[in-house]
Amino acid sequence: MSDVIDYDRSRVTLIDHPLVQHKLSILRDTATGTKQFRDLVRELAMFEGYEATRDLPLEQTEIQTPICQAVCRRLTGRKLAIIPILRAGLGMVDGLLELVPAARVGHIGMYRDERTHRPHEYYCKLPADVEQRICLLVDPMLATGGSALSALEYLRAQRVQDVRLLSIVSAPEGLDAVLKADAEVRIFTCAVDDGLNASAYIVPGLGDAGDRIFGTL
Ligand code: URA
Repeated sequence: MSDVIDYDRSRVTLIDHPLVQHKLSILRDTATGTKQFRDLVRELAMFEGYEATRDLPLEQTEIQTPICQAVCRRLTGRKLAIIPILRAGLGMVDGLLELVPAARVGHIGMYRDERTHRPHEYYCKLPADVEQRICLLVDPMLATGGSALSALEYLRAQRVQDVRLLSIVSAPEGLDAVLKADAEVRIFTCAVDDGLNASAYIVPGLGDAGDRIFGTL
């Protein structure tokens, strides 16, 4: 797997925390069953959400503790939307909602044409005020970047300004494609793998994330 990541660090965050890398190795293992796979995707989404929300603004608030008055901090500014790219992105939603329970959830449905490997959009439903929100666009696999780019284009057409793409495993091809096509998006990922095979699967990757999450192998 790529050790040298020559991407703009201000736009790509590689989450190389030891717990993340340990969980990712179990996730990749073909012997890992559906339940454990699903649990790990949820847990890894939480780590990614933690990093992707690191810069959220805070404001001061005065509260009464059992001991005294105290000035503390609470979130302010734009609210969040979690937007899974169907279907594999659904596996990351619950982990993110545990971090940000008040977030709204939109859905973007894409399927990958097995012959052309191109994404096709078949369903989109977003919060009414999506353009006011920070959107966490989630898909565990950033392979060719086709689905992510279509979803990004769709969000930009809805005038969404702040999009953060959360993938668990990325291919260099997908990272390149997304970073080149969209000058603003920031990407959070747990790994940048070697590349894609002839069927556009990430190598070494973890296989088909949707099939492994939903047990449809
Ligand atoms: N989608 C997946 O689920 N896995 C890949 O390797 C590539 C795209």
